[in-house]
Amino acid sequence: MARYTHIIGWGKYVPSQVMTNHDLEKMVNTSDEWIRTRTGISERRIAGPKETTFSMALEASREALQVANFDPRDLDLIVVASATPDHIFPATACLLQDALGARHAAAFDLSAGCSGFVYALSVASQMMVAGTYKRALVVGAETLSRILDWTDRSTCVLFGDGAGAFVLAASETPGGLLSFVLGSDGSGGDLLIVPGGGSKLPASESTVQERLHFVKMNGREVFKFAARIMPKSAKQAIKAAGLESEDIELFIPHQANLRIIKSAAQAMDLPMERVFVNVDRYGNTSAASVPIAFCEAIEQNRLMPGDHVVLVGFGAGLTWGAAVVQWDRVLPTPKPKLKTLLRRWLGYRRASLSSFFRRLGRRIDTLWGIITGRRL
Ligand code: COA
Repeated sequence: MARYTHIIGWGKYVPSQVMTNHDLEKMVNTSDEWIRTRTGISERRIAGPKETTFSMALEASREALQVANFDPRDLDLIVVASATPDHIFPATACLLQDALGARHAAAFDLSAGCSGFVYALSVASQMMVAGTYKRALVVGAETLSRILDWTDRSTCVLFGDGAGAFVLAASETPGGLLSFVLGSDGSGGDLLIVPGGGSKLPASESTVQERLHFVKMNGREVFKFAARIMPKSAKQAIKAAGLESEDIELFIPHQANLRIIKSAAQAMDLPMERVFVNVDRYGNTSAASVPIAFCEAIEQNRLMPGDHVVLVGFGAGLTWGAAVVQWDRVLPTPKPKLKTLLRRWLGYRRASLSSFFRRLGRRIDTLWGIITGRRL
């Protein structure tokens, strides 16, 4: 049985529409200077009218599957972490499963706020190590712009939209995802909440008037929680992987606030050169934040084979999650099965049976032409 889970594909998607701090100055009583000094954010991406959590998840997933050189039909599992799914049900993961044509995959959404992606990685990895599944797609995707109160300066300046995806493969080769630490403290649930729209306060005229379908946050308390839990959970995950802080080549924290990231790095004795930051360009993209940052770290050649990376998320719940990854992208892509190769060669994909036989006929004709010398 495979005892390890490796990241063999990765992809991200961010909407093209950029909203700068100066754009926000025209909407609420804020300033570029306030936002940059208190959060480190300069701009964020906002989904276009036709974009949704699903559509962004699909783009990121296609990229990740391409990197992994994987046919979606070979996926066993799809997990989407999101606080802003397209619907309460069906799950965004099921929309993704259908659009990708991943017809052999089980699919579900996972709700753990901004820690969702690390939670989803852990769940998928455990299912693979247990031998239940061999290949999984794990996605973090959010359209937070749709649940922000654009008249509330204390929250609307902080968040952005986007998606990130990993393809995971079970393997006998040591390495990959080495350890996980997950935790929660539900007593802090009220500190970061969308009060309306659930079964407690279903949508009504009054919930809309009272703006209860938007994010409400006690920023100061969430800040204190985050500054405490980020280094604590990261250290626990490093220890669980049998490593020390100095063994960590790159720290990829949830991108919520540069001050929180700096304070966590300091508590872990990590110089900022070993910390990945992109909060300045995307703001807080919740469950999408860690995979987007991971993809950009790869794009910027910040990861070398054998490097140890710590991922940490924290957020609504309250929840937190940390993982240690041994990066080994030299891993060969698993060889496709003979069945898959045949399927690709015949190119029947989603074709009907009759077109399958027509193509088969053409292939046989080509082959016969080569054998008889009619074709070279
Ligand atoms: N522009 C200008 N002023 C603002 C503002 C904005 N966008 N948002 C808040 N303010 C004001 C407040 O009203 C307050 O004014 P007051 O002193 O007159 O009441 C003042 O700025 C300071 O507010 P405070 O809450 O002390 O600021 P802060 O230094 O704690 O920074 C946050 C606020 C939200 C940036 C910070 O608390 C934070 O990042 N918290 C964590 C949030 C988070 O990460 N959430 C997601 C978790 S996944």
